[in-house]
Amino acid sequence: MGGGAGAPRGRFAALGSEELRHLKQLLGPSNVLTPEEVEREDLLRYNQDWMGKWEGRSSAILKPATTQEVSAILKYANEKNLAVVPQGGNTGLVGGSVPVHDELVLSLLRMNQVEALDTLSGIVTVEAGCVLEQLDQYLAKHGFMVPLDLGAKGTCTIGGNAATNAGGLRYLRYGSLRGNVLGVEAVLADGQVVDSLSALRKDNTGYGLPQLFIGSEGTLGVITKLTILCPARPKAVNIAFFACSSFEHVQRTFSLARQKLGEVLSAVEFCDRSAIDFVLKREAGTGVRDPLEETYPFYVLIETSGSDGEHDSEKLHRFLEAAMSDGDAAVQDGVVAADETQARALWRLREGVSDAMTTAGYVYKYDVSLPLPRMYELVEETRQKLQEAGVEATAKAAGYGHLGDANLHLNVTSLTGRDDKVLELLEPWVFEWVSKANGSISAEHGIGQCKPHFLHLSKSESAVALMRTLKATMDPKGILNPYKALRLQRALTQAE
Ligand code: FAD
Ligand code: MLT
Ligand code: ZN
Repeated sequence: MGGGAGAPRGRFAALGSEELRHLKQLLGPSNVLTPEEVEREDLLRYNQDWMGKWEGRSSAILKPATTQEVSAILKYANEKNLAVVPQGGNTGLVGGSVPVHDELVLSLLRMNQVEALDTLSGIVTVEAGCVLEQLDQYLAKHGFMVPLDLGAKGTCTIGGNAATNAGGLRYLRYGSLRGNVLGVEAVLADGQVVDSLSALRKDNTGYGLPQLFIGSEGTLGVITKLTILCPARPKAVNIAFFACSSFEHVQRTFSLARQKLGEVLSAVEFCDRSAIDFVLKREAGTGVRDPLEETYPFYVLIETSGSDGEHDSEKLHRFLEAAMSDGDAAVQDGVVAADETQARALWRLREGVSDAMTTAGYVYKYDVSLPLPRMYELVEETRQKLQEAGVEATAKAAGYGHLGDANLHLNVTSLTGRDDKVLELLEPWVFEWVSKANGSISAEHGIGQCKPHFLHLSKSESAVALMRTLKATMDPKGILNPYKALRLQRALTQAE
């Protein structure tokens, strides 16, 4: 489950009937769900994470519709010392979006409107609870797109994306949300609304305040609105899926793709055979199948996006020729999607890994940045460890991820369910391995309640101290998403 699990409850107040009455008055009774009034099943979607690994027992789910309501909730919660978990689509993979104990859940899902789009600059102003795919569909109508795409697009929210600084599939081309989010409106722990909602591409008037909230996992404020710089939607998108015989060949394929595809290259993803096998099993009967005749140890998915379909596909075919031509070819076999249905099926082979490995058993997930040449070493050493411990038949490791960003996802699925022996083999070993290799223990999913105990392996003591100072300044009572990202300050635990 990870090192943060099992944190003792902080010295926060418990929700009483008077407080509940006040919150119901504030939001309207139907926008406050409590365990006493609602079926457990209906509460589970707020209390339990997407993988079913972490589950809290929130004393109430609050569903505000406006920034003013968020502000009133937090002002009151701060006065009454009630802990609060901001929540978007609840698709986070580190347990950040669910309560650990009885924290109030503040769901942003009702705040889902696109407020404005400047069709000249592509700058969109949107409420935090807007689902990523819905925002993208809105933008598509105007010739733009969100500079972010990920497998959870149908459920995750743009506010949650910003709060986790989500990476995803378009990162290689469009970069981080830290670059694309121009402005943020956020509510601080005491209810103050910070209007930093600039719609300007350039603005050097003092500190970059929106950056404080991007990637802060709901610990410094609740994001209520954002302005985002959106690129023009490419007219032509091509997808190709290649097989490689070693990770060395995978790296050469990436290098060649950069040289030959240049400005049209928009994604370079990879999976090993084990990951693909999980997807093929999960997707049996859906039309998603292995597009190649033989099996190979590695696969690379390449996407190009541009404005001229013919030009881009010519480039892609020239790349393919180069990649398959020499004696020790980078690529062993490959297929280029002939139409959109085939393109979607090829993407599914990569995007479906997370779901396939989660439904196959209990999954231990590691999301790390590493120097590219060392990336797959970690998967191989993990397999060796599982083998030495004699659990390789039931604990299956797979490697996949965002090759273009040197972001490895190492998953180990225990087919027999949660297994503490497997966990003991993997942690802290994986995190220490990554730290020694000068990598990051969280490339894109964040820290949540899963990794606060390992933060020091990727952040210096002075950096963690400054994080603590910021947290204490912006949220002195520590009510915002306690137990997440940073360990709860000693003074706030009951044990003290
Ligand atoms: P939640 O899960 O609800 O919350 C995540 C964190 O943000 C929590 O700490 C929460 O407290 C905080 N938060 C949420 N909304 C707000 C707000 N408005 N203000 C302040 N804090 C807030 N992640 C990637 O980076 N790349 C991927 O490629 C990727 N692929 C995924 C694929 C699948 C199938 C799944 C299930 C998840 C994937 N994720 C990926 C993880 C997850 O989708 C992202 O972290 C996403 O950004 C979370 O958005 P959400 O709205 O679901 O946020
Ligand atoms: C992905 O790249 O598929 C996501 O980050 C989700 C995951 O790793 O589970
Ligand atoms: Zn990812």
